[in-house]
Amino acid sequence: MFYVTTAIDYPNGKPHIGHAYEKILADVLTRYQRLKGVESYFLTGVDQHGQKMVKTAEAEGVNVATLTKRNTKGFIRLWEKLGVEYDGWAETTDEQHKSCVQAILGKLEKEGALYKKSYAGFYSVRQEQFLTERDRNDHGEFGDEWGEVMEIEEENWYFKLSDHAEWLRSTVANDDLKIIPEFRKNEVLNAIERAGDTDLCISRPKERMSWGIPLPFDPDFVTYVWFDALINYISFAGYQKPEGSGLPKFDSLWPADLQIIGKDILVPAHAVYWPCMLHAMGFDASEMPTLLVHGFWNVKGDKMSKSLGNIVDPDELAEKFGTDTLRYYLCRDIRSGKDSDFDIERLVMLFNTELANDLGNLLNRSINMTKGFCNSTISVTNTNNAEDIALRDCLSQSVSTYREAMDNCEVSVALQAINDHVTHCNGYLERHKPWEMKKDESKLSRVGEILSHTAESCAQLAVLLRPILPDAAAKIFGQLKKDDLMKLTLSDLKWGLLEAGHQTGKPKPVFPRIQIEEKES
Ligand code: ME8
Ligand code: MG
Repeated sequence: MFYVTTAIDYPNGKPHIGHAYEKILADVLTRYQRLKGVESYFLTGVDQHGQKMVKTAEAEGVNVATLTKRNTKGFIRLWEKLGVEYDGWAETTDEQHKSCVQAILGKLEKEGALYKKSYAGFYSVRQEQFLTERDRNDHGEFGDEWGEVMEIEEENWYFKLSDHAEWLRSTVANDDLKIIPEFRKNEVLNAIERAGDTDLCISRPKERMSWGIPLPFDPDFVTYVWFDALINYISFAGYQKPEGSGLPKFDSLWPADLQIIGKDILVPAHAVYWPCMLHAMGFDASEMPTLLVHGFWNVKGDKMSKSLGNIVDPDELAEKFGTDTLRYYLCRDIRSGKDSDFDIERLVMLFNTELANDLGNLLNRSINMTKGFCNSTISVTNTNNAEDIALRDCLSQSVSTYREAMDNCEVSVALQAINDHVTHCNGYLERHKPWEMKKDESKLSRVGEILSHTAESCAQLAVLLRPILPDAAAKIFGQLKKDDLMKLTLSDLKWGLLEAGHQTGKPKPVFPRIQIEEKES
């Protein structure tokens, strides 16, 4: 079973465009596996504990449990709206998750992997961690990224991370813990160099912060939020759960084939803490997840932040432009692993040119002319015409580029491959001008062949678009009167999906142009 997970989001506010991108990416890559006929499982959810949640609740003057429940609903509603179809929902206040975390802690404590000590130092409230001298900037200060920094002394429980540093170094170096894209690997190796000799504080005293999972062996403490949250990837995958628990069979899922996270939580959380935690629990190097690390959506070069007031709201965008428009833009305008700038004008421009004008027009012309000139009937498509052969070759090339790109999680490259074939088809129509040819009765059978080539292309391209734009693909199949293509697997994608004699339906714009109101001058 192909297992896809994402980071679980902090529901301490509304979901932003970065959250939406990650969940859509996971949804697209899961749907792609299903398109290949691979059985898949997609888990996502929310990270509900920790000081961040408490701070927000205090600021809003509500109970933290109430805030958590309310905001969690906001995330669930958005995923529904954006067509993010997950199989499992991980929320960390769930009882079975809590008992799994406690069982793991209990076992680690018994085996001597944990110890208690007193520590005095600087603590970042925003990052919920103790800082070390290495966290100071060039001026010897703790920079703004740490938020409020307090000096505190307290007793806590620690996990012997350093016991696993050497093992982790070789596991990353050997690609047993695989990191995509490749260029992130060095960052991880450097982080192991820096953090591998420090143990991880995994508790918070209840008197200071009680919104967490109690340590089963020391009731004055709760579990550090990261230690709790990372475990979601296995607790909701059925780790150490008997059959009939309602959770998946763990052995069929683990290790995760894609654990999708943003670049900010790669180190130390996902590439240092998490593999060391797994190793301490008894997982070996062959049982490590594959990390897919995406870049950030920024706004005019700035990081999105509450203080800058530049947070982009995906709900509003989906409302205004539609779900498919947003899904398309988020997949199209970011390069694998790199950052991108969110730009609403580009969202509109890319939709209007690539979907409304190019693909939409190709589809509309093909169905419209097939209806008008050919009685809605597809002709024989295995012609010997050189232009037809070139079109069929172009499509095969697009399909193979698409497959390779999607296998490498490069969705924007896959979309480019689709668009390349659309461009080819539109050029082919412009050169042949079937709307002129049909005036000459003797050329009518050739008109049928030409339109059948572009209609067939639309059918195949819509199959490729299924993971990214499921709604649009369904509409395209509807107009082609080929609803069964919604279930076709990629290995059955071959020339002739629309067989000779097949009747196509009525054209209706699938991608109506977005009209932008003129700005008042
Ligand atoms: O980090 N662009 O939660 P989170 C793209 N609860 N992705 C972004 C982004 C942006 N501008 N901002 C954030 C947490 N993300 C923890 C994770 S996992 C066991 C616990 C991504 O709500 C971020 O990189 O701050 C992360 O992958 C996800 O959104 C959730 O971020
Ligand atoms: Mg698996």
